[in-house]
Amino acid sequence: MNILVIGSGGREHAIVWKLRQSPRVKALYCAPGNAGIAQQAQLVSLKPTDIQGLLRFVKENGVELTVVGPEQPLVDGIVDEFERNGLRIFGPSKSAAMLEGSKAFAKKFMANHGIPTARFRSFSSGGFSQAEAYTRELPLPIVVKADGLAAGKGVLICETHDAAAVALREMMSNKAFGTAGETVVIEEYLEGEEASVFALTDGDRFAVLATAQDHKRILDGDQGKNTGGMGAYATAPIVTKEVLKQIEEEIIVPTLEGMKSDGMPYRGCLYCGLMITPTGPKVIEFNCRFGDPETQVVVPLIDGDLAEILLSISERRLDPSAVKQHAASAVCVVMASRGYPDDYQTGKVIHGLEKVRHEDGLVVFHAATRSDGEQVISSGGRVLGVTAIGYDHDLKGAIDAAYRAVGSLTFDGAYYRSDIGQKGLRRQSHSSTREH
Ligand code: AMP
Ligand code: GLY
Repeated sequence: MNILVIGSGGREHAIVWKLRQSPRVKALYCAPGNAGIAQQAQLVSLKPTDIQGLLRFVKENGVELTVVGPEQPLVDGIVDEFERNGLRIFGPSKSAAMLEGSKAFAKKFMANHGIPTARFRSFSSGGFSQAEAYTRELPLPIVVKADGLAAGKGVLICETHDAAAVALREMMSNKAFGTAGETVVIEEYLEGEEASVFALTDGDRFAVLATAQDHKRILDGDQGKNTGGMGAYATAPIVTKEVLKQIEEEIIVPTLEGMKSDGMPYRGCLYCGLMITPTGPKVIEFNCRFGDPETQVVVPLIDGDLAEILLSISERRLDPSAVKQHAASAVCVVMASRGYPDDYQTGKVIHGLEKVRHEDGLVVFHAATRSDGEQVISSGGRVLGVTAIGYDHDLKGAIDAAYRAVGSLTFDGAYYRSDIGQKGLRRQSHSSTREH
């Protein structure tokens, strides 16, 4: 089978790395990819949003399955376009991708189908004064969200009613997030710990991958600015067997059934961003794709042939029993460019990759790198995802191994959090529900 993966981050590297292990895969392409991905796939210099260019490439090169990493092409309708051309592709249709593409759509869908989520109202452009009046009714803090895609930056947690009014004005009147913020969702703040759960689904059947926790803030102890994610670990002990059952029954099943009955069956990876609250799991957001960096810990734990799994989904014949998980834990520490998520420098030479290349249970996923002759150079904010596997659910061992490898990797201005996975360790020591 010839496969094209679309995207260029750590998520796509993890997917490519796993696909390369499949005996079924012959040619493996990645558009546009990065220096790490180039070790396992042939790079194609096309942008993920160049749907017509990608379509041409697939036809000319006999690609039998396309796997879409990022949300933008999905929201733009790449799946509809490929399927119209009789091509197999992994991901949701344009209408189903609205679960991520419009927060107002997602909230309304959840309300209609009784899926647990934060209490909310949405307001479209022109509704500023009603929106402001609604915030005055809510207890603090108040969560204000831009409706559309805003590269993970469109969510503001407001500690005062005045701050909420400022946030609304920025989004609705001053267009701080462009058209994405013309419509806003205002919702109650949920208390609890977050977890990410990915369901692979062909629209009817689904399989849940290892549960994970992201570390979204830039500083240790979950302080400082929000980022794309500074590290992750799996599996997440906060999602006990009982909580996972609740997530399946109260969130995943009604979502898939609701999408089907609303005429937009959901196929692909349904990313459930959850708050595990004292009254049960609630949806913070849905994404229409694999999450990053969670994919870098979740995909290595899949005990099965990823190519066959993704192909079966594109052909609407998923066998959930073919999606098993290794009895292991995984930790990914993101090495970023100093200054991220604000201004940072790129073009720094990365040293030490050779030293860790052949270590058992360790893999360095590249998030933003390019080759320059023999050298590997940083090319973005999040540069590397250093991932270690701890066999037999050894989370502590995985954390130690990941940080040992981080210690051998250097580039000018490298920054990383030093507490990735600690939340999981603390919870493991408090509970007896380690394995699920
Ligand atoms: P989102 O882009 O919707 O995932 O929001 C980004 C981050 O904001 C989430 O990962 C949470 O940490 C936080 N957040 C969003 N909505 C809420 C909420 N209703 N209550 C508490 N935190 C939230
Ligand atoms: N890890 C957060 C995301 O992928 O959206």
